[in-house]
Amino acid sequence: MITSTDPLSLDLALEAELSLRRLARRLDAFWMRLRVEETNIVRVEFEERLQEYWSTLFQLLFELYGSRYDFIYHLECTLEILIEAWVSRDPALQKVDRQRINHPDWFESERIVGGALYVDLFSENLGKLRQCIPYFQELGITYLHLMPLFAVRPGNNDGGYAISNYRSVDPRLGTIDDLKALAADLREAGICLVLDFVFNHTSDDHQWARAAQGGDREFEQYYYIFPNAEIPSQYERTLREIFPAVRRGNFTRHDGMGKYVWTTFNSFQWDLNYSNPSVFNAMLNEMLFIANTGVDILRLDAVAFIWKQMGTSCENLPQAHTLVRAYNLCARIATPGLLFKSEAIVHPDEVVRYIDPMECQISYNPTLMALLWESLATRKTDLLVRSLSHRHRLPSGTAWVNYLRCHDDIGWTFDDADATAIGINAYDHRQFLNAFYTGQFPGSFAHGIPFQHDVKTGDMRISGTLASLAGLEQAIERNDERLKELAIRRMLLLQGLTLSIGGIPLLYMGEEWATLNDYDFVKDPAKAGDTRWVHRPKMRWEYVQELDESMSQDTSLRKRVFRSLQRMIRLRKANPAFAAQEMELMQQPNSHLFAFVRRHLGNQTIVIANFSEDAQTMSGNVLRTFGFGRFFRDQLTDRTIGTSESISIDPLQLMWLVRA
Ligand code: GLC
Ligand code: GLC
Repeated sequence: MITSTDPLSLDLALEAELSLRRLARRLDAFWMRLRVEETNIVRVEFEERLQEYWSTLFQLLFELYGSRYDFIYHLECTLEILIEAWVSRDPALQKVDRQRINHPDWFESERIVGGALYVDLFSENLGKLRQCIPYFQELGITYLHLMPLFAVRPGNNDGGYAISNYRSVDPRLGTIDDLKALAADLREAGICLVLDFVFNHTSDDHQWARAAQGGDREFEQYYYIFPNAEIPSQYERTLREIFPAVRRGNFTRHDGMGKYVWTTFNSFQWDLNYSNPSVFNAMLNEMLFIANTGVDILRLDAVAFIWKQMGTSCENLPQAHTLVRAYNLCARIATPGLLFKSEAIVHPDEVVRYIDPMECQISYNPTLMALLWESLATRKTDLLVRSLSHRHRLPSGTAWVNYLRCHDDIGWTFDDADATAIGINAYDHRQFLNAFYTGQFPGSFAHGIPFQHDVKTGDMRISGTLASLAGLEQAIERNDERLKELAIRRMLLLQGLTLSIGGIPLLYMGEEWATLNDYDFVKDPAKAGDTRWVHRPKMRWEYVQELDESMSQDTSLRKRVFRSLQRMIRLRKANPAFAAQEMELMQQPNSHLFAFVRRHLGNQTIVIANFSEDAQTMSGNVLRTFGFGRFFRDQLTDRTIGTSESISIDPLQLMWLVRA
């Protein structure tokens, strides 16, 4: 028999098996060091899962690192990290793991409703956040995303995204034990915990970065560090600039080292070098540590950027997917209840490539987000409909996370070809949307502000809260009751759509109070340069008290938004048609309207949204073709609607129609 050393001709499934067999004795010794006998159920379960996933994991790692002379060494490290993580996992989490292995679609339920917040701005610290659980329950939140809460560098830390230690909580917020206690309380309350895995970069004061700064060659290889600008400028030819207002280009000269470091985001956020298998394992260790604090879902921050290759955009490369799949398999083996959520705010074709049960089970839906705002500005839904008609459907076992605002800016990430297909010039349209949402366009209702305005290209993204972008700030300034009414309707319209369109709705906390922009961020030098802080205000707990008082005008406005949202959440959670993803757009001729049907296990609901400030009609025939019979009940108004004539939809009204 002829054997070859050409990797392409290797039988990788066989090599996987052989490698595991070769490592068996050493792994056995490792188990014994942890005092886990072969017959221990914990070990038996692990080995079953390893059997199931090893071959695939091996092949992915081989793809990334198989050409390294020390591949087998790193494999052994990977396996030890997995064993140790599972063995040290809290039995309460292992119990959840077992349930989720049997119910892998748990996150597709209509009962999942998300909220995201900054611990310091919401409750000051983790201890006090535990006391806020009744608040989440009252609103109906069952998924809680806490913005990065690990130790960060002093000064500007990009809202927690410049992490100096993944194993300690920012002392201002608490300790790892506080985090575990919170996670346990949330679990008890039926709320799942979502944390970031900020794995594209560390802070420049992380111990690995410090070691590199001290000249340690092993740790220099953890990052992309170059002696001079030559190689960086070769990369630069094909790279985008993510933070052009911070610094031109993607590299930063570090004065201490006299060398250039890859910094896609801020200059103090050093991109990790995943072509080095030591980085893969080091970050795997950090990932599983975070998971073991009691996290249900990890948000993979800036996932598009994690692999670099000369001559490419260094975004969305195939190896980035391979890497995430490898991490996903590690999670399947060591922390099987854990899900990944993709944060890829990129072209819609690229967004979906991360979404797969074996990659990221859930993903932000930036295209829907941008197009809902687009429809609000244009009062037309053609681009939204066009885009969703071929982009909403996802593989089974996955889900969209639908949101309107988050801690970041809004970028107009729709597909140019979708725009062209309906006669819209994408470039001009983005200029229009920027002008509209910064309030420059005549008649605009929005008070947003530019983020990362690139003077060279004229590009920008938009910062602002839901309420300010939807017109409430302007309405209050003008003290105009009609404008206030319209702004509130816009907010509830969009929120009702993310609650009903299929997937996990995610509120950015503060939306429930119609929180306005907070311009005070400019007073803090660590924040002044980043306009995203305008939509990161502090929670005002006095609002909660106001709910039960008889009210001033402003209070009643907030109360109305809170109560309406709370009610919509309650209705969503009681309607099984809103589970999972199935969504059929309704063809109808009125381009101010947006209508679709949700179906799940024999339940059906029709959703109709009017994006215009005038009442619109829809023919009863269109509705009847969906076979519900002649009468519907609108769950949101509790009104019964006959379909023998046209139905009328109020300005900016949303309807959830079920069979009467
Ligand atoms: C992510 C975060 C954003 C941050 C960036 C760098 O996109 O959402 O806030 O600035 O990554 O970590
Ligand atoms: C870019 C990145 C995204 C990041 C955002 C921050 O859009 O793609 O990952 O969150 O910038 O503004």
